[in-house]
Amino acid sequence: MRRKATITAIGKYVPEKILSNFDLEKMVDTSDEWIRTRTGISERHIAAEGEASSDMASFAFQDLQRRFDIDPQEIDVIIVATITPDMFFPSTAALIQYNIGATNAWGFDISAACSGFVYAMIIAAQLVENGLYKKVLVAATDTMSTITDYTNRDTCVLFGDAASVVLVEPTENAEFGIIDYLAKMDGSGKDFLYMAGGGSRHPASHETIDKKMHYIYQEGKTVFKLAVSKMADVSIELLQRNSFTGADVGLFIPHQANKRIIDACVNRLKLKDGQVLINIDKYANTTAATIPLGIVDGYDQGRLKPGDLLLMSAFGGGFTWGSMLMRWSLLQ
Ligand code: ACO
Repeated sequence: MRRKATITAIGKYVPEKILSNFDLEKMVDTSDEWIRTRTGISERHIAAEGEASSDMASFAFQDLQRRFDIDPQEIDVIIVATITPDMFFPSTAALIQYNIGATNAWGFDISAACSGFVYAMIIAAQLVENGLYKKVLVAATDTMSTITDYTNRDTCVLFGDAASVVLVEPTENAEFGIIDYLAKMDGSGKDFLYMAGGGSRHPASHETIDKKMHYIYQEGKTVFKLAVSKMADVSIELLQRNSFTGADVGLFIPHQANKRIIDACVNRLKLKDGQVLINIDKYANTTAATIPLGIVDGYDQGRLKPGDLLLMSAFGGGFTWGSMLMRWSLLQ
């Protein structure tokens, strides 16, 4: 029988500073009413000056340590999902390793935008299921405020900053843990959701700055339609191939990009309100961090009990999308 992996510890960090819809009303031509009805967002947290993605992930690890007795020196691997690394190199994983004192760990970053957590969890699960490693830390951290143009109302209302971490370990009990996962990608999405500046195609220059190429570009409508269909398709495919239906799901934690996207997915999956976790109102879209933030919130609210079937799904830049199914095992 396949060795199983499970989540054994969790932690989160959201910066103190809050940027509300009313604050945004003073910055661009928008309204609290438009933002709430079109996206479900009321406020978002913004990193302090100089606070980078590795800092936020390290604070999230401190939260994990406050909740669970974990020795950082026992961590074998650190996988970081981010599209806002502190810098191109060294990796954010190396910076987090140093910050938290995980001196025996190796690690790396992955770039899959909003699907980053699902992608990273699949790799973590594989490393544990193969028997190669016992403690894999997955950190999802994005400082979206650093790549957001706060003069562009199309995007600046959508994003927030946050980090969340989970520890993945083998489980003795075969009834619990990660059951199955699916990851997908369609590179034609490169034209609809990207940040063009600063890479090897358009290295940073006065021109890239003048043309605002260091900010997120998104064709919202195209992304919206695909997010709804792909997130629902991949969730249904994963449920069906494991002989489950929506009725079996204890909690659905979708990527939080837009409440209307979530509602459409929930309809397709035929879920009831009580089966879905929605926290976009207070954090907005924190890219890689949305699903693990949802896990921590769900756990803290007593909505994740051992044995519950947890379904996670994401869609994001690339395009990338994916889904993971697990039986929750962590006691309150
Ligand atoms: N305030 C007020 N009006 C606005 C705002 C705003 N902040 N933004 C846009 N509008 C206007 C538009 O200009 C447009 O006006 P017009 O009709 O006069 O032209 C009108 O509102 C409608 O705009 P739409 O773009 O059609 O609005 P839509 O309902 O599609 O919502 C949104 C836009 C929220 C961006 C939506 O398309 C969306 O959520 N898209 C998907 C986002 C997503 O999932 N991203 C993926 C993850 S991100 C990642 O991977 C990094």
